[in-house]
Amino acid sequence: MERFRTRTHTCGELRKTHCGQTVTLVGWVDTTRDHGGVLFVDLRDRYGKTQVVFSPQHSSETYELAKTLRSEYVIVVTGEVIPRPADMINPAIATGEIEINGKYLEILNKSDTPPFPIEDTINVSEDVRLKYRYLDLRRSTMQKNIFLRHKAYQVTRKYFDSKQFLEIETPILMKSTPEGARDFLVPSRLHKGKFYALPQSPQTYKQILMVSGFERYFQIVKCFRDEDLRADRQPEFTQVDLEMSFVAEDDVISVSEGFLKTLFKDTIGVELETPFPRITYTEAMERYGSDKPDIRFDATIIHFTDLLAQSNFKVFSDTIKRGGIVAGLTFNGLGNYTRNQLDGLTNYVKSLGAGGLVYIKVLQEKIECSAEKFLSQVEIQTIVKRSKAQIGDLVLLVSGPWQKTLTILGTLRIEMANRHNLIPDNIWKFVWVVDFPLLEYDADEQRYIAVHHPFTAPKSDDIPLLENDPLKVRARAYDIVLNGNEIGGGSIRIHTPELQTKMFTLLGISEQEARTKFGFLLEAFKYGAPPHGGIAFGMDRILMLMTKSKSIRDVIAFPKTASGLSLMDDAPSTVELKQLQELHIRIV
Ligand code: AMO
Repeated sequence: MERFRTRTHTCGELRKTHCGQTVTLVGWVDTTRDHGGVLFVDLRDRYGKTQVVFSPQHSSETYELAKTLRSEYVIVVTGEVIPRPADMINPAIATGEIEINGKYLEILNKSDTPPFPIEDTINVSEDVRLKYRYLDLRRSTMQKNIFLRHKAYQVTRKYFDSKQFLEIETPILMKSTPEGARDFLVPSRLHKGKFYALPQSPQTYKQILMVSGFERYFQIVKCFRDEDLRADRQPEFTQVDLEMSFVAEDDVISVSEGFLKTLFKDTIGVELETPFPRITYTEAMERYGSDKPDIRFDATIIHFTDLLAQSNFKVFSDTIKRGGIVAGLTFNGLGNYTRNQLDGLTNYVKSLGAGGLVYIKVLQEKIECSAEKFLSQVEIQTIVKRSKAQIGDLVLLVSGPWQKTLTILGTLRIEMANRHNLIPDNIWKFVWVVDFPLLEYDADEQRYIAVHHPFTAPKSDDIPLLENDPLKVRARAYDIVLNGNEIGGGSIRIHTPELQTKMFTLLGISEQEARTKFGFLLEAFKYGAPPHGGIAFGMDRILMLMTKSKSIRDVIAFPKTASGLSLMDDAPSTVELKQLQELHIRIV
């Protein structure tokens, strides 16, 4: 059998204790340095780097061959491990105390000059990295991210196995039941005019598994959503998905906390304190202006609605009369913001949809307010008092409808925190957001839509409200938020066909439509469905946060761009006419 010399050690393994041994290493040429008569080569594999020295003193033939080495050539080297001279020791790398005296060299493959150096900090666009992903993945940050992902999967499997969860695969080709995002469709060849959909999540399947009596299910599963992409969204992404029978909210939350605690400990060695705090949706909105609050820093929203209902400043009092609010944020030490900076902020909040921005600068000599012509001195004083602003502080106020105003303030809060480095590094702030509304009204579609999904159960106290005041009904849903990112969400489900049918009706899904789309689930619920609930974690997002990456693309081996392209293999692509014909499809 043809083969190359067998590797005896990896490039990350050799230490001073190996000196005197003859070893064989394989790997990629990282760098070469010709020091006139001596050639230094850093050899790299996934375990690390080792310095190899070629000199005509050891073997002139090998030395001549070594001189032809270029970056990214794949080689096999045999030589003796020798200690580096004291002034050549590199404490930055694990093998920094030794080098290999290269006596035998074989080039296993050559390489073109790579389009960017295989280094951690590179100055190249992400598109180029994605086109040459195989090279990008050779860089040590990317290798570390992929290793971490692997580790996270092993920890996940071990944890859920230890808690009696069964790993069960659910289909990738399923029935199209769009709710929320758009489905990716797959045409059927055998059934003309029919389509499969790729799962947006295994939601219905995992519920059916509960009906089947498996009691505890989990899966590390790809989900597909044809939606607009952002830095924390991909069209295909990975969930750690689970479902449990005979449980209430606290059971799912407690298993989830155990999972996250184990995951963080066993992957990045971070000790998390559980239980995590819980906050209601309303409180999250009113304090942080977001349903995924970043609680790493204060600067929470302050409410002034009760103070300004009678104000002569019509912008405020009229808004309040219409049921709106006046609220704001205090920023310590930013009272020195210039007119220009404040104009910039005003434009910023306007771009978010605000009518305008009122500011108050609390200065040593005076209080400066952009609305001082309209607000009374007493009103300004009370605002300053309520906002706890001290000399040198800046208060920003916005008015308008509840949801919109709070969301604008929430976005402004994060923007200012980023601009002024208010967010402490290296802390992990988890929070559960609970008591979400069950429904919201979609003005475009002129109907209610489920905030989570149509299978989420309403709180039993609120069931009577379903008929007359559906927007007041709270859901038995929970989201888990980490440092201002939604990393998971779930709920206790509806498990009777009656309530599920009622829910579909509320969502404007006709009985006929419900039967066509979800008949299998309604049918299954007739045969003894246990009470059940679950959650799914966004694994890519968790890994993005663990690695402090800017985008989830950095923790996915082969991600898509923001416009859904795979630049390396050029997907999506056109297909042959024959393929389309077989699928009974014509492009119009
Ligand atoms: P949900 O839609 O909230 O719930 O998804 C769960 C978690 O998945 C992550 N996530 C995404 N990550 C990357 N790219 C995307 N496009 C994307 N969309 C979602 C988020 C999110 O919190 N079946 C329910 C779960 C349940 O009720 O048990 C579901 O899919 O981190």
